[in-house]
Amino acid sequence: MAKPLFTFFLLFSFILSILSITIAYHPPKHSKPNQNFIKSSCRATRYSSLCYHSLKGYASKIGQSRRQLTLTALAVSLSRARSAARFASQMKRARGINRKELAAVKDCIDNMSDGVDQLNRSFQELATMGHTNGEDFMWHMSNVQTWVSAALTDASTCADGLSDRHYKSGNLKGAIQRRVNNVAQLTSNALAFVNRFV
Ligand SMILES: *[C@@H]1O[C@H](CO)[C@@H](O)[C@H](O)[C@H]1NC(C)=O
Ligand SMILES: *[C@@H]1O[C@H](CO)[C@@H](O)[C@H](O)[C@H]1NC(C)=O
Repeated sequence: MAKPLFTFFLLFSFILSILSITIAYHPPKHSKPNQNFIKSSCRATRYSSLCYHSLKGYASKIGQSRRQLTLTALAVSLSRARSAARFASQMKRARGINRKELAAVKDCIDNMSDGVDQLNRSFQELATMGHTNGEDFMWHMSNVQTWVSAALTDASTCADGLSDRHYKSGNLKGAIQRRVNNVAQLTSNALAFVNRFV
């Protein structure tokens, strides 16, 4: 009889100690204000919920810096654009794809890889311009603005191109469009951050 009771006691104190650790644990002090900074900045974007969810994982890196926020938004958009372009490239070899569909997918890949370049240039420009001031700053930022809008046009062109044609394979089209639309929305959000500097 004594043994099960002892086991129960052990188990009970184990659970108690887990509970007290959980209660004593507080997230890092800075994480809350940083997440609030992201949330309030994202309110000014068109896809604010996507904006917040795509950036909140980088709260500690972003801190309260508008520049870091914009850089991170560009990096997220760039990485999604790359994987959307890669995905579309794989779809060129999809079974049963017809000639028209293949043409639309190829155009889309062209547009997306152009978009990837534009986003990459934007990121590099903003990352390397340092803390220049006045006119110089505005000149760099307007470059970034131009390239990010071009990337947005690229993604929209791709998505529109896919919906124009008559597809038999709705799944294929849908799968590419979902990714490209996601890129377009992230890019639109990044552009909103860029525009606030200009
Ligand atoms: C999209 O790609 C097609 C095919 O390469 C090209 O004709 C068109 O100009 C591109 N549009 C944009 C905005 O890049
Ligand atoms: C991005 O730009 C950098 C510098 O301009 C270049 O070295 C790199 O290859 C580019 N990456 C992509 C994926 O285009």
